[in-house]
Amino acid sequence: MSNLSALQGKHIVLGITGGIAAYKSATLLRLFIKAGAEVQVVMTPSAKEFITPVTLSALSQKPVVSEFFTANTGEWHSHVDLGLWADCMVIAPATASTIGKMANGVADNMLVTTYLSAKSQVFVAPAMDLDMMAHPSTTRNIESLKSYGNIIIEPQSGFLASGLTGKGRMEEPENIVEVVADFFASRSDSSLAGKKVLVTAGPTYEKIDPVRFIGNYSSGKMGFALAEECAARGAEVTLVAGPVALTTHHPSIRRIDVESAREMLDACTASFPDAEIAIMCAAVADYRPEQMTDKKIKREHTEVPTLRLVKNPDIAATLGKAKRPGQVLVGFALETDNEVANAVEKLERKNLDYIVLNSMRVAGAGFGTDTNAVSIISPQGTVKDVPLMSKDRVAGEIITAITQKN
Ligand code: CTP
Repeated sequence: MSNLSALQGKHIVLGITGGIAAYKSATLLRLFIKAGAEVQVVMTPSAKEFITPVTLSALSQKPVVSEFFTANTGEWHSHVDLGLWADCMVIAPATASTIGKMANGVADNMLVTTYLSAKSQVFVAPAMDLDMMAHPSTTRNIESLKSYGNIIIEPQSGFLASGLTGKGRMEEPENIVEVVADFFASRSDSSLAGKKVLVTAGPTYEKIDPVRFIGNYSSGKMGFALAEECAARGAEVTLVAGPVALTTHHPSIRRIDVESAREMLDACTASFPDAEIAIMCAAVADYRPEQMTDKKIKREHTEVPTLRLVKNPDIAATLGKAKRPGQVLVGFALETDNEVANAVEKLERKNLDYIVLNSMRVAGAGFGTDTNAVSIISPQGTVKDVPLMSKDRVAGEIITAITQKN
C-alpha cells in the first residue's frame, strides 16, 4: 500500500550536492511535487555544475537557494527560517564531502547551515563511488549522522558513473519518495497510542570468567528499529537490550540494559504482564557455561579447560506460557533449512502469535547489516514477504502486519 498521500501539504527542503546523481534530483523533486508537497531546493555551489538551478526552480516554482546572500540585492537567506519551515529535509544526492561536513559541523555553505538548523527529520541518500563509500571515514561519518537521528537511505549496488560496479548508487527517486512518505504516514499513525510494547534486542553474553564470554554477532539493529517504530506510533516501549553499541532516539522508549539471558528473562517477566505486544528480537544464547569462575582462567598452570554448558531459559517460551488472551507475542527465527516449516514449528512450540523468519538466502539480510528481508508468519501461514529494505522500513512492515487485527 502506498503512503504517498501522507506527503500532501508537507514542506520539504531538498538538499542537492555535487554528484552525478544530481540529475536524478529533478525526478525526485517532480515526484514530491506530484504527491502534493511544497519543496524548497537548497544546492551546494558544486551541485550547479551537475544540474541547473533554472530546472529546479521551474519544477519547484520557487527560487533555488544556494548562497548566503543574493549578490545584487544583498538579501540574506535565512537558514534558520528554512530549518523551521521544513517538515523534513532530504539530502539527495549526498556526496562524501557533504556527509563529512554534516557529521562534523563544517558549515561553509547554505546546505550545511540549513542542515544544522533543521529541527525536523533529515533523510540522507548517499551517492558516491564504491571506494569512497567503503572508506572508513565515510563509514564513520555516516555512523555519526545516524547517531544524530538522521535516516540514511542506503545506496544501492550497481553500475556507477565511474564505470565500476559496486555499492554507491543513489537509491532511485521513487524509493526515496516512498521512504519519506512512509515516515510521515507512520508519524500520523497513532495506532499504538496508550499501548505498552516490550521489545528484546541484541545478543546476550554468558560469562566464562571475568574477561571472557559466549556471545554472538547480533547487532541489535532490528530490535532497536522495532522499538523506534512502536514509539513513533504512540506506544510506550520497554526495550530490553543485550550488549550493543546503539542509542535510542524516541523519548517514549525506556531502555533496560542487560547482559545475560537470565537477566533478560528477569527484565522481560517484570514488564510482560503490562504489555499488549511483546516482540522477541534478541539473539539469546541458548547455552551458558555451567560455572563462572571469578578469577581469570590462566593459560599456564592449567590443563586445557573443558567448558561444560547448561541450557539457558527460553524467554519467548516462558512468556508464551504466561500469555493472557489479547496479548500478542512475536518471535524471530533464523533457519537454514526447511525455513517455513521450522519457523511454524517454533511458533507453535513457544505459543507465539507471529514469527518473523529472517532470510539466510538474501545477501544484505541478517546480522550486522542495515538491511533485512523477512517473512512474517502466523499460525494460518505466511502473512507477508518483506523484500530487502532498510531495517527501519522492515520494522514498519512488521508492526503493520502484527497490529492489523488488533
Ligand atoms: N528466544 C528466547 N530465548 C532463548 C532462545 C530464543 O527468547 N533462550 C527467542 C528469540 O528471541 C526468537 C525466538 O525465540 O524470538 C527463536 O529463536 P531461535 O534462536 O531461532 O530459536 P531456538 O529456540 O534457539 O531454536 P534453534 O536455535 O534450535 O533454532
